Amino acid sequence: MAKYIIDGGRPLKGKINASGAKNAALPIMAASILASGKVYLRNVPNISDVWVMIDLLRDMGAEVKFEPDGNLFMDTGNVKDKPASYELVRKIHASFDITGPLLARFRRAEVPLPGGCVIGTRAVDLHIMGFERLGIEVKLEHGILRAKAKEITGTKVYFSKTSVGATKNVMMAACLAKGETIIENAACEPEVQDLANFLNKCGAKIKGHGTKDIVINGVDRLHGAEYSVVSDRIETGTYLFAVAKAGGDILIEKANPQNLRAVLDVLARIGVDTKVTSDTIRLKSQKKFNSVDIITEPYPGFPTDLQPPLVAMLTTANGTSFIEETIFNGRFGYIDELRRMGADIIIRNRGAVIRGVKNLTGAPVEAYDLRAGGALVIAALSANGTSEVYGIEYIERGYEEFERKISSLGGIIRRVS
Ligand code: UD1
Repeated sequence: MAKYIIDGGRPLKGKINASGAKNAALPIMAASILASGKVYLRNVPNISDVWVMIDLLRDMGAEVKFEPDGNLFMDTGNVKDKPASYELVRKIHASFDITGPLLARFRRAEVPLPGGCVIGTRAVDLHIMGFERLGIEVKLEHGILRAKAKEITGTKVYFSKTSVGATKNVMMAACLAKGETIIENAACEPEVQDLANFLNKCGAKIKGHGTKDIVINGVDRLHGAEYSVVSDRIETGTYLFAVAKAGGDILIEKANPQNLRAVLDVLARIGVDTKVTSDTIRLKSQKKFNSVDIITEPYPGFPTDLQPPLVAMLTTANGTSFIEETIFNGRFGYIDELRRMGADIIIRNRGAVIRGVKNLTGAPVEAYDLRAGGALVIAALSANGTSEVYGIEYIERGYEEFERKISSLGGIIRRVS
């Protein structure tokens, strides 16, 4: 079983580049099904989830070439409206993003319910409601969503709850609809905005992305385009929390501070200074940092994906923090692993009460999902002694060159398989 062996207690110093965002690259790749032409994407992260999406698109008939420098070429001209393979769809949650594009292009889709990290209930009722509002007939049977339509017709879709996934799927399904679609209470996440920007480059007519109301005017067809994926705010946040906790001085280039306001605000509140330019963030650690109370929320609130890294950082804060998870009901599974390292945390309903301790101690621990993996590595980097982090296949789903980037900052980390 592959694992990281990490010797903790060393400051992290140096410069790294932010990678392209996993949560933007995957839906943009899925959206390429809509473009009847060649798509050329830059800044695509070399992570295992991207390779699964490549396999899925190839299985549907796309030609895909991915170069390690982040350039991805795709021709989706020969994609077929065949049922998506459960073997592939079960591996990543983002596989469900092909549903909207298949519906728009073929008026038909057959996609098994997706898998992905186990972090709590991941319902699809809002996706189905949105599709039905567009005139699509949807059946959910035997774990498979089967949908078809004679015609997709523009309409108003109101989401009672903010859903990134449903916003993306309905926005994509509406691109080739007849008339205007308005999505009310849409998700505003930067990755949803990036997807809309890509679709517009392919000829879609989307307005209002980044606000609560997205307006899509249907067009006859989309064409291919060149596009550079936005940088990964979750990866950037993970490194910032790692350095704030382990100590050191980091400059992150090719970042997007505008998308990280909630994270920069947390750092300011715990007493850690950051300096930003339009595309860099510099953080110099303090000897001590304070506790903080945070609720995870849809963007522009504090992101659920950074909840585990935040909790890991706060294990050695000065004082007691309270972190409430409002997006996913099963996202505290890693807390027991942090406790093995000496963290003092109790779970109360949807929240974690974290009493700061002086130091964590190295221990063997196991990650059961991607961001929990990020949290355990943060903990191990600052702990006294050696830790073994198992379950790194989860970490490699979403953190590009994690080991190389941490080593370049002076962290002692070794991958053993
Ligand atoms: C969510 C996060 C996203 C994060 C991603 C991966 C939010 C709002 N979304 O996106 O930031 O990057 O996980 O960790 O923070 N829901 C329903 N019915 C639906 C769809 C969703 O009840 O049809 C619920 C989900 O169970 C969840 C919440 O709404 O509790 C948000 O879900 P959604 O945003 O769709 O999830 P992801 O797209 O996976």
